[in-house]
Order: sequence, then structure tokens, then C-alpha cells
Amino acid sequence: MRILVAAASKHGSTSEIATALAAALRHHGAEVDVVAPERVTGVQGYDAVVVGSAVYRNRWLRPAREFVERFATDLRGRAVFLFSSGPIAEQGHPVNRPYVISDVAARLRAREHRMFAGKLDPSVLGPGERIVARVIGARIGDFRDWDAIGAWAPEIIEQTARRRSGRVATDHPG
Ligand SMILES: Cc1cc2nc3c(=O)[nH]c(=O)nc-3n(C[C@H](O)[C@H](O)[C@H](O)COP(=O)(O)O)c2cc1C
Repeated sequence: MRILVAAASKHGSTSEIATALAAALRHHGAEVDVVAPERVTGVQGYDAVVVGSAVYRNRWLRPAREFVERFATDLRGRAVFLFSSGPIAEQGHPVNRPYVISDVAARLRAREHRMFAGKLDPSVLGPGERIVARVIGARIGDFRDWDAIGAWAPEIIEQTARRRSGRVATDHPG
């Protein structure tokens, strides 16, 4: 089973989530490529595609949004999984609701969308970013839950395998 993991990251913490997820997928037997979304040239040959992004000001980063635009048609024929990273404010705060995700999920007929907590390190932020982070009430720290990220891998593999066998059954009825 071949899986592409393409995640947009500004300060690196979402890339690390993508790398950890890829390691867990490999551990469960998948062949995995981790490629920055802006560097992906095609999704052919992959059984599943995981698209992720850090959330900034309630939106996915541009490379992830553009990836969806570029490959929307091709992605519809594959098992697609989405994740967002960022909700580091108190639960229920608007920061936890990246808009467009439900549109993207519907458009790509994604299997699911997961939110993963991210990391906020003020030392790597520009002055403008620091102000925005303060205004939105984002907490400083590394909140990434490696167990939750790793635990997603077998679910992705199982859902993709199920989809593949379903497709084979449809392709060859009887
Ligand atoms: C300027 C700024 C805006 C942010 N906006 C949001 C937001 O709207 N929603 C959210 O959940 N997290 C938000 N975050 C938190 C980031 O998504 C989080 O720090 C994430 O882990 C960063 O990922 P990266 O290191 O891959 O860029 C924001 C952080 C900064 C610095």
C-alpha cells in the first residue's frame, strides 16, 4: 500500500507531525512518501493521500489550499485523510474551528478530518505573529500528542485497505 503524506508547515511543528505519522504508517507496513504540498507533482500511484496543514488565523496555509485546488479531481479517486494542527487555545475558543475544512472534506470526499494540537514557540515568531497569537489566546508550549498521531496510522491503513478491497470487488463482480 502506497501512501503520500503532504503537510504544510510554517515553523516546522506540523512537518514533524507528518514525519511521525509517516513513521507509524511504515511501522504498519505501508510504503510512505512525505513531500511538502508545494513540491508534489502528482498523486497517481498512491492508494491514500494524507493532506495536512498548520492553522493560521483560522485557515490552512496556502501550500495546502493550493494542493487541494491542483489535485481535487485526482484526489477524488483515492482514499483521502485530512488533518489540521494548531488548536492550542482553550477548548471551545474560535481558534479550534478552521474554516473551509468541511468544504474541503466534502469536495475531496475525504474519509475524515483530524485536529491535532500543535506547538507555539514565541522565539521563532515574527512580531506580527506574536501579536496575533496573543490576541487569539493561543497558549505557549508544545502540545503535540504523539500517541494520538501514531494511533491514527493503523486506522488509515485499515480504511484504505477496506476501500481497496471494496473497489476490487466492484471492479470484478462475482
Ligand atoms: C500568528 C499565528 C496565528 C495562529 N492562528 C491559529 C488559528 O487560527 N487556529 C489555531 O488552531 N491555531 C493557530 N495558531 C497556532 C498554530 O497553528 C500552531 O502554532 C501550529 O502548531 C504551528 O504549526 P507550524 O509550526 O507547522 O507552522 C496560530 C499561530 C500563530 C503564530
